[in-house]
Amino acid sequence: MLSSILRQKFIDFFVTKHNHKEIPSASLIPENDPTVLFTTAGMHPLVPYLMGEKHPQGTKLVDVQKCMRTDDIDEVGDATHCTFFEMLGNWSLGDYFKKEAIQWSYEFLTTELNLNPDLLCVTCFAGDKDAPKDEEAAKIWESLGFVKAENIPENQKRRIYFLGKKDNWWGPAGKTGPCGPDTEMFYYTGSNKNNPYEKGGPDINKEWVEIWNNVFMQYNKKEDGTFEILKQQNVDTGMGLERVTAILQGKNSHYETELFQQKSTGKSLYIVLDEISNSANSSNESIKSKRIILDHLRSATFVIGDQRGVVSSNTDQGYIVRKLIRRAIRHGKKIGIQNYFCSNLAKEFIEIYSDVYPELSKNQQKILNEMQKEEEKFSKTLETGLKEFEKFLDHLKVNNQNQLSGKDAFLLYQSYGFPFEMTKELCKENQIEVDENAFNQELKTHQELSRLGAEQKFSGGLADHSEETTKLHTATHLLHKALRIVLGDHVQQKGSNITVERLRFDFNHAEKMTSEQIKKVEEIVNEQIQKGLDVSFEELTVEEAKQRGAIGLFEDKYSKLGNKIKVYKIGDFSLEICGGPHVKNTSELKNFKIVKEESSAAGIRRIKAVVGD
Ligand code: SER
Repeated sequence: MLSSILRQKFIDFFVTKHNHKEIPSASLIPENDPTVLFTTAGMHPLVPYLMGEKHPQGTKLVDVQKCMRTDDIDEVGDATHCTFFEMLGNWSLGDYFKKEAIQWSYEFLTTELNLNPDLLCVTCFAGDKDAPKDEEAAKIWESLGFVKAENIPENQKRRIYFLGKKDNWWGPAGKTGPCGPDTEMFYYTGSNKNNPYEKGGPDINKEWVEIWNNVFMQYNKKEDGTFEILKQQNVDTGMGLERVTAILQGKNSHYETELFQQKSTGKSLYIVLDEISNSANSSNESIKSKRIILDHLRSATFVIGDQRGVVSSNTDQGYIVRKLIRRAIRHGKKIGIQNYFCSNLAKEFIEIYSDVYPELSKNQQKILNEMQKEEEKFSKTLETGLKEFEKFLDHLKVNNQNQLSGKDAFLLYQSYGFPFEMTKELCKENQIEVDENAFNQELKTHQELSRLGAEQKFSGGLADHSEETTKLHTATHLLHKALRIVLGDHVQQKGSNITVERLRFDFNHAEKMTSEQIKKVEEIVNEQIQKGLDVSFEELTVEEAKQRGAIGLFEDKYSKLGNKIKVYKIGDFSLEICGGPHVKNTSELKNFKIVKEESSAAGIRRIKAVVGD
């Protein structure tokens, strides 16, 4: 079954047979949640509704959600791990619960996907101090012909296993929020179909592949680590599209399905890579590199081409985009690719996915340009780094040494942007060691220094309470908000420094601002000044501030205080976390003017501005 049919069947099953409403995939970049970089599961964009807010489409929803998980990035290259994936999910927001959820899952798997029920087994939550054993879910499985594994007759199929929190509990997605016990469905993919349990159940035998997870979100995990019963009982289910597609096609991995085949010819993207590299190597190493390239470039394509797309930079999501593209390039070199290739691959993915995700074709030019730009940039980095590395190497040889010092490796990394993995690989090729511990030590010291530097600047800025700086603090909030209006919600403060003369504001944005954009930002700020908006503050907890959509630095040091933080409100225009001080009314600022817009670091722009008449 093709992935497109699977998507459609899933939606149709829940919409037409079980009265759900289809909702579109939310962005990969979470809105209003600065604690995570990406949408990691279908439940993520639905958190407010799982917590009790009313969803405009009702209480039964179904969707296919774009997801990104980068925790396992080092595992990518095997048959199953992906960074980007699509999750099929059906949702009950305080509507149906375990009985319907499990019955419908079973019905879908066995009648719509025609999976053999004897090759299915399931797991349920074993219970612990926080929540009881999920006998309720097990009973429902029993009514469908499943039997608890603890008391099985010989050769019994369709088993129910009970596992602990590590396996059968899901969430919260962040530190706090909705969570609960789950029941997971596994399908046997091994060859001994007559006796699928010969090598054990899903807890020990990897031939049992998890295909669906039904989470019964009935708890809320609180700041202090305890669990409270949620106002409503929810169901959150997740089925990995790639994985199930591979199973339905009897393929060993999703890379062998049409999701990784050239749209026009059906040619495998493995072959496309062989053609680009002019060699057809099928060693395990080479397959691994090809999978990394394909996975990472698909993910980068989706993040750049997202409705709230982000481009390469040195911070946050932009940093991940950069990392994905650069890792793909390194593996491209490993398999012998000489020329630029990232945008070619991105184009393949845009073609494969545009029917389902039209934002990709809409943003095609942006995606291709960004890939190309990043590849050119990284190639230069590699070239210079390589030259420097060779100098170090000559020096070592002349002195008859066989270890590159941590300091030198750090210099390559810090001054030339040369990836440490690359240094390691080159050292290995040249049979010399590299002092990894010393490198890590250097890295830590450096990070500590820049942190201290940043804190000093921060406290320096806020310590001065003169009339001039007070005005500039308020102007900074107006500017921050105006930038988000003009350039987009991706804009976040990356640094702020205020003297009596001017404000300086650093923020993430990939391109130079045009003069129209600068003018627009000035206009918006001046409008707020002319309106004479009152400036006031409230003391809220970090959670409350986030819920109200406050912007600003949600730093650890705030949340550690545990108590309330100050949130400044400027009319209805801006809500931002800040220690102050601020003016009482925006009219005191008189007039706002941007005097400079420049680059401060890769992906970071810097504005200097003044107020007064
Ligand atoms: N949230 C669960 C998961 O990610 C089910 O959707 O598996």
